Amino acid sequence: MPISAEAVRDLQENDLLVLHTLERLMKRYQWVPLEVLARATGKGEKEVSYRLTRLLRFGMAKYEKVPYDGYSLVFTGFDALALHALSGKGTVNALGPFIGEGKESIVYEGLGLGRLVLKFHRIGQRSFQSARVKRGYMPEEGHVPWLFASAFSAEREFLALTKLHPRVSVPVPIERNRHVVVMSLIPGEILSRCTPGDPGAMLDAILLQVREAYRLGVVHADLSEFNVMIDGDRCFLIDWPQWMEVSHQNAGEILERDLRVILLYFARKFGIEYPLSRALSEVTG
Ligand SMILES: Nc1ncnc2c1ncn2[C@@H]1O[C@H](COP(=O)(O)OP(=O)(O)OP(=O)(O)O)[C@@H](O)[C@H]1O
Ligand SMILES: [Mg+2]
Repeated sequence: MPISAEAVRDLQENDLLVLHTLERLMKRYQWVPLEVLARATGKGEKEVSYRLTRLLRFGMAKYEKVPYDGYSLVFTGFDALALHALSGKGTVNALGPFIGEGKESIVYEGLGLGRLVLKFHRIGQRSFQSARVKRGYMPEEGHVPWLFASAFSAEREFLALTKLHPRVSVPVPIERNRHVVVMSLIPGEILSRCTPGDPGAMLDAILLQVREAYRLGVVHADLSEFNVMIDGDRCFLIDWPQWMEVSHQNAGEILERDLRVILLYFARKFGIEYPLSRALSEVTG
């Protein structure tokens, strides 16, 4: 379901109270019974029931009869809580157009002090297991692993951006709330969709950024032509949730894979032959 800023704006105080309480109780319940919500919010069952009807209509919660009557939070509700918090702090004033959807995220433009990007991490039930394998560690707290895994993924990405900015050319990290990373909007295009004026110089520029990240102790671990953005002769490395510490036992192997992917792209698309051993010593030397 697309994220609706209108629905978030329409939320009333008691809607938010029920939504926040539902989020909190998801640690203990797979499905939160109405009476538990009523007790936790201090509102009567009638009022809570009315609020839940609205949340169901907005697609922010789910009702299930089996195994027992109860309510649970869904991604749209989690999105709403994050957006509400970010707008309350003044970080985000408006949600802009949809930019793209990846395997594990939905990206929107937004407006704050400047043009922003809001990346909503979405580690769903399906991608949870693969994310776990790919990233080595994923929390599995409570009954809703997707909720914690998505927030964890956003936290990882935000941490990488904070470590790297401004030494490495990455989006400026602005804020993180729950599973949402707010960062600056990078102008330009994804490398796979454009042709740099001087491909050889662009490859050098990318390797230089990989080297700077390496010096700060970070290996991207998902580097490809889809995670590099180009603006004129500048490049930016994006999409960092799976990054790895240089000290990690697999870091050498992963760095090699990152470089192989980029070199292969430049070889196939622009006929540039750049030996892997040379790229490796450029980055680590
Ligand atoms: N800071 C940014 N500025 C401009 N566009 C961005 C920015 N971050 C992401 N995008 C756009 O959103 C798209 C998806 O973002 P990103 O690569 O970070 O996640 P993803 O592709 O969902 O992750 P995955 O690789 O797991 O599928 C990018 O291809 C790019 O077009
Ligand atoms: Mg990507």
